Amino acid sequence: MTRETAIRWVAKPIVFTSALLPLVWLAWVVATSDLGPKGPLGANPIEYVNRHLGDWAIRFLLMALAVTPLRGITGWAQLTRFRRMLGLFAFFYVCLHMSSYIGLDQFFDWRAIWKDIVKRNYITVGMLTFVMLLPLAITSTKGMVKRLGGQRWTKLHRLVYPAGIAACFHFYMMRKGVQLEPIVYALICAALLGYRIAAHLKKKAARTAKGAATRVAADASRDRGKAGAPAS
Ligand code: HEM
Repeated sequence: MTRETAIRWVAKPIVFTSALLPLVWLAWVVATSDLGPKGPLGANPIEYVNRHLGDWAIRFLLMALAVTPLRGITGWAQLTRFRRMLGLFAFFYVCLHMSSYIGLDQFFDWRAIWKDIVKRNYITVGMLTFVMLLPLAITSTKGMVKRLGGQRWTKLHRLVYPAGIAACFHFYMMRKGVQLEPIVYALICAALLGYRIAAHLKKKAARTAKGAATRVAADASRDRGKAGAPAS
């Protein structure tokens, strides 16, 4: 089996199926267990469902952001092949999370939802995160990469960085007071973005050093030329 076949027909289906497990598990628990206060979803099953979906949305977003640093550290270029799938699963869980809020939590009461967006800062930040992720999901196909052109597409997809930061803020603000879990997610996000900043600075320094070395070599060769030239 070639590496291409293994990735396409084994690794990708495994990642895809695994990414659906949190949803399958949730559907199974909702369908089969007691939804009363003593059931596995606790006293507020709607809150449990919404939070479970939000948790997986941020986890997949961080997994997608982890691809580049992991590729840099391990040298395994094939990891990039999984980035789009992870990013789309983040968006998938965000959509379910938002739908559970709109449908289960607010019963499609659009006026109440609008009030909530304006009044509760963490909902505003959540919506903002969604707005940043939407164009990334829409332009995730190969056709859209071609249509936008590589450079413009890459620039647009840098939105994933503020989206990651905003998602962590949403999580932190939603949990009142200082709690460990959102801080851990924020630290992971900071490490993943920090890796990129460090890599960028290293590249810039290497380019500057290379430019300086080229200039020194050019100056030396010009000086040698002058020294060898007959005096006029
Ligand atoms: C589309 C707009 C969004 C809305 C309206 C929204 C709404 C909510 C609500 C109502 C809660 C639970 C509050 C509670 O139980 O008291 C919540 C929690 C959460 N949301 Fe969002 N959210 C949005 C976007 C996002 C996005 C884009 C992400 C991540 C990528 C996200 C991740 C989370 C997380 C991690 C939690 C906390 C779960 C926990 O406590 O374990 N949300 N959100």
